Amino acid sequence: MSDILERLRRMRAADAPTHGGRVLSYVYDSGLDELEELADAAARLARPLNGLDPTVFPSIAAMERDVIGFTRRMLYGGRTVVGSVTSGGTESCLLAVKTTRDRWRQANPALTGRRPRLVAPTSAHAAFTKAAQLFDLDLDLVPCSPDGVVTASDVTDRLDDDVALVVVSAPSYPTGMLDPIAEVAAAASARGISCHVDACFGGFVLPWWPDLPAWDFRVRGVTSISADLHKFGYAPKGASVLLQRGRRRHRAQFFATTGWAGYPVVNATLLGSRSASPLAAAWAITQHLGDDGYRRLTGSIHRVALAVRAAVDGIPGLRVIGDPTGPAIALGSDDSLAAPDRVDPHRLADAMLTHGWKIQPQPGLVQRDGVRIPHSAHLTLTPVLERGSEDFIRALVAAADEVRGRPPADPRMLLTVLRVLGYGEGGRVPGPAAAWRLLRLAGAGSVPADKPTAMLMALIERLPRPVAEALLIELLARMSEP
Ligand SMILES: Cc1ncc(COP(=O)(O)O)c(C=O)c1O
Repeated sequence: MSDILERLRRMRAADAPTHGGRVLSYVYDSGLDELEELADAAARLARPLNGLDPTVFPSIAAMERDVIGFTRRMLYGGRTVVGSVTSGGTESCLLAVKTTRDRWRQANPALTGRRPRLVAPTSAHAAFTKAAQLFDLDLDLVPCSPDGVVTASDVTDRLDDDVALVVVSAPSYPTGMLDPIAEVAAAASARGISCHVDACFGGFVLPWWPDLPAWDFRVRGVTSISADLHKFGYAPKGASVLLQRGRRRHRAQFFATTGWAGYPVVNATLLGSRSASPLAAAWAITQHLGDDGYRRLTGSIHRVALAVRAAVDGIPGLRVIGDPTGPAIALGSDDSLAAPDRVDPHRLADAMLTHGWKIQPQPGLVQRDGVRIPHSAHLTLTPVLERGSEDFIRALVAAADEVRGRPPADPRMLLTVLRVLGYGEGGRVPGPAAAWRLLRLAGAGSVPADKPTAMLMALIERLPRPVAEALLIELLARMSEP
């Protein structure tokens, strides 16, 4: 048995470091060792349970009550705000959309047969694109400024009878913007339209962030909020909270059937059988940290954010995109300077890897109005970074010096190959074999974690979306093929 674990340890050695703040996305290290031990012990205690049925395992309901209660207080929800613990941000967003779609259909029998619309800024998380696809809504993405800022009127101008849901973020992931939540929610409420605040990213930080306008359930038109326990709740992966204003709205999220031959099925979330371990770990951590613990950890993130922003302001050619609120910062090239003085963010990300830091490249996005949100490098700032912020800033300065003046990657050759092969025309996308050949040509083929990403990102931005998506699917699918 020990050799099995040894093999796993060896495999894990190839992973990016999950602790210490060296990876500025995906992982959320509080820097508090005791949280890890507590979460492990709680998860182990709950391991044999099945979250499918809290009537058989009432500890599950008890833990969920505590977590929902804590999150509801944190977000100023009254007694009519209820909710569920889901498996993550995507599931919370999916459920928020499914709930409002079903309620919209019920409330609008005259519009039967029409697809409801989901209105959201372009900066909203991709989970809403997924939700619109899965639940058959038209996705109406409202263009943002190049900094990822959306104006309230640009969103509210899109509201009409066919809109089932408007989504705003607190904050958005790509550039860390706090959307104009009060204005959008008020306009939505006046038309009887639901308004979801996606606080998956910031939900367990913004309640303690200084000087913010109300963005939570204090805003009357806000009908649901998602907040992820497995991000800044500091719980292991597999836990998020979806809060809904009103029991009816919450109940619309459920699935129940007595129409099959087995046990009566009642699911509050998308899955059937599910592990109770993520809930137990999140429960233990919220109990342990409480309001004071989260306030202290948010204080660390706030100080790190100020330090990193001040440092970037002093790095010629690099800039913080817009004026972010909370733990997300996007770094972009300072295009007010001449090309030899600019720092390309994707070149920077590749150079940072050689210094032992992983920042996340984001491709540029041309929106439907033609305005481009520039390519950037995303930083998720976590409390543990407070200990290493000087090292991080030193690496940022050195990496910027190394790449200053290097132009963005140019994927022209590959684009020509793809065009000659006719991909993108008439919706033609490469199948698995062709996509893999193209990826090999682009330099993929082994575990991509430490491969330079500037070229791949440049390619993604310029390819027709279906082609880029087919290539990315192939890249991921090949990784786990036996
Ligand atoms: C704002 C926002 N919403 C939703 C999600 C999706 O969360 P998950 O990756 O837990 O499914 C994320 C993830 O980063 C996010 O930042």
